[in-house]
Amino acid sequence: MKPFSVAISGKGGTGKTTVAALLVRSLIAAGQVPVLAVDADPNANLHEALGVEIRETLGSLREEAFTEQIPPGMNRTDYIRFRFRKSLVESGGFDLIAMGRPEGTGCYCFANDLLTTSMQLLERDYRFMVIDNEAGMEHVARGTIGIPDLLLIVSDPGARGVRTAIRIRNLARSLGLEATPVLLVLNRWKGTTSNELPAAFETSVVIPEDPAIEEADIRGDPVGSLPPDSPARLAVERLAGIIIRMAEEKERRHRS
Ligand SMILES: Nc1ncnc2c1ncn2[C@@H]1O[C@H](COP(=O)(O)OP(=O)(O)OP(=O)(O)O)[C@@H](O)[C@H]1O
Ligand SMILES: [Mg+2]
Repeated sequence: MKPFSVAISGKGGTGKTTVAALLVRSLIAAGQVPVLAVDADPNANLHEALGVEIRETLGSLREEAFTEQIPPGMNRTDYIRFRFRKSLVESGGFDLIAMGRPEGTGCYCFANDLLTTSMQLLERDYRFMVIDNEAGMEHVARGTIGIPDLLLIVSDPGARGVRTAIRIRNLARSLGLEATPVLLVLNRWKGTTSNELPAAFETSVVIPEDPAIEEADIRGDPVGSLPPDSPARLAVERLAGIIIRMAEEKERRHRS
């Protein structure tokens, strides 16, 4: 069975990467392993939030697949598969893969086909997949998030943020994700929310403003270092609970 996939979208700087990393950590803590973390932001930084190093991105692999010297005894297919495996970062409870830059103007069909098949084969090994996307709506428009089982739209609690969240949701619906459940994540909540919100989204969760996140950010520490009672961490644990129930529901439907 394919993993339960959660794509995270939203305006710039709203906390997508923070929520993605906290979600990966919460799923692991809940025993929902293994998790595949996918950094789909060309400006990759999910690894930092998770406290691991990346060696290379699929973007650089694609660019170099035809310019690099292939080691003796390997053909190009083997070589791309080998580098794909090498770009996967393995850590306790989760693996991470970074997509890197979108393709340029060259012909990438051969490498892309291989990468798509490699991704499909890889996905089968995981229980959950958490995809951190770039800001805005480009990735939705380009279809790079595919059809996830759940779309999380992260927003600040202000009116402008919520309007952007509504635009992302509507665009996603018009691009083939009309059946995908959408959950609004109001991050950095300080006690008040735009009143445009209640009518716009069926389901929403709130993550409070958390000084421990800011402090970890300043120190350059991963989110895993947040104290167990940090309010944002507890809020994402509750969010993970909702997501785990959705995944169990999908599994039940699949079996019956
Ligand atoms: N709940 C929170 N409380 C306090 N600070 C937060 C919270 N969530 C995120 N932040 C801070 O907000 C900033 C932006 O967060 P993050 O990088 O996760 O956003 P993003 O949406 O991934 O940004 P980008 O669009 O650049 O990818 C960071 O400095 C982060 O530490
Ligand atoms: Mg980010």
